Amino acid sequence: MAEVQALKRLQLHPYRFVAEQPTDLGSYDPIWWCNKTESVYMVFTQYSCDLFVPLELGGFKSDQVRKIAVQTVQGLHHLHSLGIIHRDIKPDNILIDFDGNCRITDFGGAYVFPDVDEPDSPSVIGKIIYDLSATGFTYPYYAPEVVHKCEVDESHLPDYVDRMTAYIFNERADFFSLGVTIYSILFGQIPEGHDLAHDPHAYAEMYDMMQRQMYLKNISYDIQEFISRVSLSS
Ligand SMILES: Nc1ncnc2c1ncn2[C@@H]1O[C@H](COP(=O)(O)OP(=O)(O)OP(=O)(O)O)[C@@H](O)[C@H]1O
Ligand SMILES: [Mg+2]
Repeated sequence: MAEVQALKRLQLHPYRFVAEQPTDLGSYDPIWWCNKTESVYMVFTQYSCDLFVPLELGGFKSDQVRKIAVQTVQGLHHLHSLGIIHRDIKPDNILIDFDGNCRITDFGGAYVFPDVDEPDSPSVIGKIIYDLSATGFTYPYYAPEVVHKCEVDESHLPDYVDRMTAYIFNERADFFSLGVTIYSILFGQIPEGHDLAHDPHAYAEMYDMMQRQMYLKNISYDIQEFISRVSLSS
């Protein structure tokens, strides 16, 4: 199970902007399987709230948004350097700890490269993934490539892909989601759009609308550029 794999790897390499599991449980493992309920249980350090709060309150101020963007990029870099692509970055999956810092959580949709033991292992960043399955990601944060299968070029077909279509992506998918997340917490609402899961062309409309809104609302140029660079160019 990818989530357990990701959490085990993060126990070995914790990072301040990624949610942690407590280490003071004595002989108890923070991840365990219960035969009776046939479920996996996981214990986390408790944090304050998630970033859905600013969505409900009508948006964060630019300075807060800048801090969140920087910390989440750093957290994502740590995950990526460990071969973990989150794929479900959204306001509800970014927690705020009691010091006001971000903590990326919820690895239920993650893609986890096998056999990555150390951060910054070579050949993980930028490596193209061909995945046959996808879990339920959340509208409108998911990157197009994690929800739309593509034809696989035969000359690049890895051994484990036995079909001609697959989800083809790399860690940039997380930056797409981060851009939409930052936009949402800035405006206090998700970008309006159409059914992105079924209509790949709807993305172009969403990009145009996001850019127009940022221009009209006079969002500072560095934030506009950040959102454009991470999401619009993915
Ligand atoms: N360590 C924590 N401290 C405080 N709140 C937390 C913590 N972990 C999770 N939460 C809260 O619980 C919510 C759900 O947690 P999580 O995303 O891990 O579960 P999930 O079932 O995968 O949710 P979803 O499918 O909605 O993404 C989070 O959005 C957050 O509000
Ligand atoms: Mg979640």
